[in-house]
Amino acid sequence: MNNRKILVTNALPFANGPIHLGHLLGYIQADIWVRFQRMQGNQVAYVCADDAHGTAIMLSAEKAGITPEKLIAQVNKEHQRDFACFNVDFDIYYTTHSEENRALASLVYSRITDAGKIAQRNIEQLYDPEKEMFLSDRFIKGECPKCGTADQYGDNCESCSSTYDATDLKNPYSTISGATPVKKDSTHFFFKLPEFTDMLNEWTRSGVLAPQIANKLAEWLDSGLKEWDISRDAPYFGFEIPGEPGKYFYVWLDAPIGYMASFKKLCETRDDLSFDDYWNQGVDTELYHFIGKDIINFHALFWPAMLETAGFKKPDLISVNGFLTVNGQKMSKSRGTFIMAETYLKYLNPEYLRYYFAAKLSSTPEDLDMNLEDFAQRVNSDVVGKVVNIASRCAGFISKNFDGKLGNELEVPELISEFQTAEKDIAALYENRDFSKAIRTIMAHADKANQYIAEQQPWVIAKENPQSEKVQAVCSTGLNLFRILVIYLKPVLPVIAEKVESFLKIDTLTWDDAQTLLQDHTIDKFKPLMTRIETSKVEDMVEASKENLVTEDKENNPLESIAADTPTGRDPISEEIEFPDFAKVDLRIVKITHAEHVEGADKLLKLILSLGQDHAGNDIVRTVFSGIKSAYEPEKLIGMYTVMVANLKPRQMKFGLSEGMILASGEGSAVYLLEPHEGAEPGTRVT
Ligand code: 2FM
Ligand code: ZN
Repeated sequence: MNNRKILVTNALPFANGPIHLGHLLGYIQADIWVRFQRMQGNQVAYVCADDAHGTAIMLSAEKAGITPEKLIAQVNKEHQRDFACFNVDFDIYYTTHSEENRALASLVYSRITDAGKIAQRNIEQLYDPEKEMFLSDRFIKGECPKCGTADQYGDNCESCSSTYDATDLKNPYSTISGATPVKKDSTHFFFKLPEFTDMLNEWTRSGVLAPQIANKLAEWLDSGLKEWDISRDAPYFGFEIPGEPGKYFYVWLDAPIGYMASFKKLCETRDDLSFDDYWNQGVDTELYHFIGKDIINFHALFWPAMLETAGFKKPDLISVNGFLTVNGQKMSKSRGTFIMAETYLKYLNPEYLRYYFAAKLSSTPEDLDMNLEDFAQRVNSDVVGKVVNIASRCAGFISKNFDGKLGNELEVPELISEFQTAEKDIAALYENRDFSKAIRTIMAHADKANQYIAEQQPWVIAKENPQSEKVQAVCSTGLNLFRILVIYLKPVLPVIAEKVESFLKIDTLTWDDAQTLLQDHTIDKFKPLMTRIETSKVEDMVEASKENLVTEDKENNPLESIAADTPTGRDPISEEIEFPDFAKVDLRIVKITHAEHVEGADKLLKLILSLGQDHAGNDIVRTVFSGIKSAYEPEKLIGMYTVMVANLKPRQMKFGLSEGMILASGEGSAVYLLEPHEGAEPGTRVT
């Protein structure tokens, strides 16, 4: 009966930034679903790739002084490393900048052109005459044509919320070069999306999407679709459109085709997979896309229309997740809740996060809040307190008193059978991506197992009679219940499951194994499977994510770290500010009177700064934590003069209160403190 063949994709992350917890939500969700299907005996090909094209990546590489190819190769490695650490088990992690993708994008394009679904026309756009490139809305700023607010982007005003065309902005400037853009004509290629309205009306209602998403799409469909501009002019990092020199496919055209290209690449190494079996119209394999709610239009409108025209099958299901909020708010760098995968891993076990996401995820696209207190409390009480606890309560007696051997006799057959029949409900919940309900059901069973053990009190009987058969029967029953729970949790907690397999000395657990029991079987000594989340670790992670802002971010962010290595990677001059804004910053000459290492901090030195004396003759002293450790030995700093921002609001850091900031240029080991000319006195204002 089980023999589904499913191709699962996750949205392809852009190759210009690190993976953070917001990304991980969708990847962990898909991975859990994939692992569940595999445990059921279904064949799953799980593919992903970096989305490597577009203006943003081209400019990032330029800023870093490297080629886009070098940049995307480096980011690809980092993304693969992060996903592997969270046990997101792709069969292939490729890139959209591949020959397979170029060929497939050209094929799809030629088929949609031949079908008469591409229109060409001239459009007028803003052009940066210095940089010699067309500017999309995000690279143009100016004054809002409605309310006059300065520095608004080319599409809408943050102040009065009006929307407009970039060409309507007053006093526009290019955010890339600062130049005043000029209007310029060029030919663009458009996909005739409106011609697909009927098909999309039907298809979006066919069960491929959650009802609330289909409703949203219906609004767009009702208000009329627009033709979709699929070309961009050089310079652009992407694929040149065949036969159209200087014209490139817009990144969003070849990104979803990247799903096909990754799968094609995977087929090269897998005899059991054939491209046509998964992409031809009419095949009985299934295609599942897992995406975030911000990219629905690309996947549920443009993509099915393109696939249909090009003669490929359309997706069977698009699973949409909401955004991740932390402590009830948008992830924030200043609050330390914009947490990179890499930072998380320095402090916490990835399975904690997998469990927490599973415990909160449903099949609807609602946002998911990660309250950090709730996170620790939930993982500790469920996984450690309920599940692992069963094994740790029972295993010791079996090892010590029965030579590691589980008994032949098990107790409470009704309870065991209740655990086994729960399989159906739990499987249906996983299948429908109702993970939070699946977890709730599993934990309700864990409660019952604990209740059974608590009632039997094997520790009381063992005190009287360590070799009592009853003790062996209770503990063997407990461990069997535990084993069934671990089977149900295995899609979420693959590492724990693996440890349990070795502790119980059994083969890799599959879903059907819940229907068998372990009797007369020797197990290994119990080793702790998971430790509790220490709140201090969560706090450290948040603190480190704040530090990221000042220094570590440069290391976490591959682009920034490349930029730091290359002399050409200078930041462009920031936007102009008014003098009164500048005058608010109270810069003072200071003398460093003391400097020391900070225990546990990779980047920071603690500095005591003297600002001279106040009118009453009291010394003015400030303590500042500064991320300059990699460049300066503390002893060398003592006695040096530098400049500080004296009126910066004190900031509570993990290591103490920082009462300002000293000025330095550069980052990493190339940090240079600013030093005043000889004769400047501590405390004098810098103007
Ligand atoms: O939103 C994003 O991060 C895109 N890079 C997702 C692309 S998904 C698919 F279309 F390739
Ligand atoms: Zn406005």
